[in-house]
Amino acid sequence: MAQFTKATSIKDWLNQRLAIEKVEKVMASEYWIPKNINFLWAMGMVLAITFALLLVSGIFLLMYYQPHVDLAFDSVNYTIMREVDFGWLWRHIHGVAASVVFLVIYIHMFTGIYYGSYKKGREMIWISGMLLFVTFSAEAFSGYMLPWGQMSYWAGMVITNIFSLGDLHLDGLVEWIRGDYVPAQAFLSRFFMLHVLLLPLVIIGLIGLHFAALRIPHVNNQDGEEIDFEAESKKYLAGDKAGSKVMRFANDFMSKDMMIVGIYLIFFFYLVFYNYSFALDPVNFDPADMLKTPTHIYPEWYFLWSYEILRPFSVNIGLIAFGFAQVIFVLLPWLDRSPNTVPASRRGLFQIWFWLLLIDMIVLTAMGKLPPEGIFSTIGLVAALMFIVLWIALPFITMNEKKV
Ligand code: HEM
Repeated sequence: MAQFTKATSIKDWLNQRLAIEKVEKVMASEYWIPKNINFLWAMGMVLAITFALLLVSGIFLLMYYQPHVDLAFDSVNYTIMREVDFGWLWRHIHGVAASVVFLVIYIHMFTGIYYGSYKKGREMIWISGMLLFVTFSAEAFSGYMLPWGQMSYWAGMVITNIFSLGDLHLDGLVEWIRGDYVPAQAFLSRFFMLHVLLLPLVIIGLIGLHFAALRIPHVNNQDGEEIDFEAESKKYLAGDKAGSKVMRFANDFMSKDMMIVGIYLIFFFYLVFYNYSFALDPVNFDPADMLKTPTHIYPEWYFLWSYEILRPFSVNIGLIAFGFAQVIFVLLPWLDRSPNTVPASRRGLFQIWFWLLLIDMIVLTAMGKLPPEGIFSTIGLVAALMFIVLWIALPFITMNEKKV
């Protein structure tokens, strides 16, 4: 206990017990970030802020939401939207954030792919990122059930049906997930629990893991340059800030991030106040009715690409293709066989692969929203096959890539 002396200030008191100065150095003032990064490196912070907006708006919605099949729809569409002061505002923030967060996640993911930020000791960043993607998807799906509208009900029906795994007919598993033969009270209660408690806790834990995974390999940079962080940080601390290739996480990097976050928030609140309807499906303004199937059932836009991979095939093959699409991104650090850490623009065939994958996923998204008829179903099939071929081809086209 010898290290405990009479504290001279609150900071000193805390320092003796929690080593706050050391933590502050490790996580902020001596957390070194390369200078050669662009605005795309602010997307992580934009995601963290959007998640905070989702948490806060969710807590306000929770004060009036009723997780009961007879009350849920009215508690959202009447109580929150019309009766509670500013209830509409919290709902718009929550709905818009839930949609926009996926746009930013996709930008963040594709930035990682373009710059090869999953390579050389950065695999754990990638894996924790993919786990975040999966839990965010589950969080969005469970949230979509809560207003108990027509789309909630029927999307719940379609997605849980997937677990019967085609010809394996695992109907018992589907009933176990639903807690009933069809989506009903048990279903709503458990998805409510997942949405407001279990999944947010998992997401918070995973964000912690994602940050921790960044600390040792350091953040990548836009030139794929191998930076000697020790030498460059010494230069910075010796006073040569301009000559050093690195900057502090706080406040150098954070102040740059905050400028991008500020621009993002202007765009975000413009959507919240003037253009929120894209985030609220009109079909979901009809209460759930188990006797009336909507003519066309589709998921929210961010799931459309994987939905379209499921749809053009027969049930069993569709399920295999869908399963493939869910796990293949996680394997990227091992499927890309090239040791190059330079951006895609300097990687020949990989650059073509990157743009083809991006365009293919946009085409899949567009086709997923349209009814699977005529030319749309043919384009959907070609795009789904293309997705699979691109991933199978990746190890082969990167294997013989020239060292840059
Ligand atoms: C949704 C929650 C997420 C949050 C809050 C988050 C946050 C962050 C932050 C703050 C950074 C460092 C700065 C930056 O590069 O932006 C980062 C880096 C990174 N993230 Fe995420 N991220 C999330 C999801 C994802 C997802 C879904 C992936 C895809 C697999 C991913 C992959 C990466 C990669 C590869 C890096 C390293 C970038 C580099 O080294 O240049 N993240 N993330």
